[in-house]
Amino acid sequence: MRIAKALSTLGCCSRREAERLIGEGRVAVNGSTVAHPSLTVTPGVDDITINGSAVGSSPGRVYYAVYKPRGVVSTVRDRHASQTVVSFVPSSLRLYPVGRLDKDSEGLMILSNDGAMANVVTHPRYETEKEYLALLDEIPSDDAMQRLRRGVVLDAQSTAPSSVSLGDQEGRGVWVRLVLREGRKREVRRMLGAVGYEARRLVRTRIGPVQLGDLRPGNYRALTLAEVDGLMQQADRRLVVAIDGPSAAGKTTVGTQLATRLHATFLDTGVLYRALTLLAIERGVDENDAEALAQLAATLDVHVRPPTVADGRLSDVLLGDRDVTSLLRSPDVDAAVSRVSSHAVVRSPLVEAQRRAADSGRAVVVGRDIGTVIFPDADVKIYLDASPAERARRRAIERGNNAQLSEVLTALEQRDQQDKTREVAPLNLARDAIVVRTDGLSIDQVTDRIMQIVEEALVLRRRSTEQRATGAFTQRRREPQAGPRTGSV
Ligand code: DC
Repeated sequence: MRIAKALSTLGCCSRREAERLIGEGRVAVNGSTVAHPSLTVTPGVDDITINGSAVGSSPGRVYYAVYKPRGVVSTVRDRHASQTVVSFVPSSLRLYPVGRLDKDSEGLMILSNDGAMANVVTHPRYETEKEYLALLDEIPSDDAMQRLRRGVVLDAQSTAPSSVSLGDQEGRGVWVRLVLREGRKREVRRMLGAVGYEARRLVRTRIGPVQLGDLRPGNYRALTLAEVDGLMQQADRRLVVAIDGPSAAGKTTVGTQLATRLHATFLDTGVLYRALTLLAIERGVDENDAEALAQLAATLDVHVRPPTVADGRLSDVLLGDRDVTSLLRSPDVDAAVSRVSSHAVVRSPLVEAQRRAADSGRAVVVGRDIGTVIFPDADVKIYLDASPAERARRRAIERGNNAQLSEVLTALEQRDQQDKTREVAPLNLARDAIVVRTDGLSIDQVTDRIMQIVEEALVLRRRSTEQRATGAFTQRRREPQAGPRTGSV
């Protein structure tokens, strides 16, 4: 088919828009810029790009936004319904509604034949935002607003925190805006009911990046390429990168840079064990006294925050409200930390604190057992390594002029040995970890390499989501049960 038609069939843009893009020299086929809209291509076979980005990886996929009017059902076929939302879009293709909207509710629905996108938008794991406007008879009380925000209990389970604000007044009523990241059955109506209010009208105004805008009831429009891309990007929201490796392999520096680039939370788990060791030294607790150390670990009050002093620190570490950053890498702590962290009863109480780093959805976590014990299902596992000589050289530079390279090397090798041979959670190469050796590489080069690995992993994940989603419309997939994590501590 002609390239302009192919682009519109692929749901990238209208034919007119395609012709304009071709005229501007922004469309290429198999690496050559398209000179004329009469060029014929085979979607799915030819490699088509707009502004260098590939299109056509989903040949024949189409995407529409529809304003579902009140009273219309959102399922494809309903024996009792005279009309379903699918009938609003004239298409020779078999379209399916992405997610549901109650018969009594109205507003944005996405219709598509792309199961992968539907999976991303509807799967609770990806927490795609959905925004609603609810018309109430009166302004809700502050208490009701707070409860809606914090979460109310429905079916013995609290709803996730949501953003709730007051909108325009309409007559004696008022519109309330709610942004949810989950979609339980009739959730908005039931949440409002739980705090004593009833929605007179309920309009969905946004799904992820797709706005209802000025669509009128019963009208539809094609989604733009940017909107489809935005919906798929929700799949990249959850990302856990585990970086393990021996001391001074560059985990903290590289991990911090990576977290900045990925907009992720960063946690250096070594500081937890170091803070515990410092506390043990200060309290006179012996490094072999597992029982006493476990008690300290159970009540350990460590906080890591961005540095407040511009002295090159990567973060500030607080023990209670005391800033202990400068004490954590002292020779005393260095000498005892491996032994302290080798006790199983010391490690168990710190597991949850480490897993909380991933609460925000994106996290880079560094340590010794991150890919094996803490996040065995991490999206990317890196094992950062360098020769002992190189690592000792870096540590000695960190320490300053007085550090004896040979002493630093001996201490480091001892610590490596202890971390690798201990019985619980030893430093180990996870089966699916990628080894990155940092000898002779700059920090930036290492970060670039890991970024590349992360990007490749995201592409693969998207592909596997697409493959898994084949048939997602016809067979509703069972949601994965949140089971206990595997791996012992
Ligand atoms: O990464 P680091 O050098 O700050 O770690 C200090 C010690 O803490 C290390 O020798 C072993 C221990 N540790 C651990 O057992 N598990 C972790 N996840 C991180 C550190």
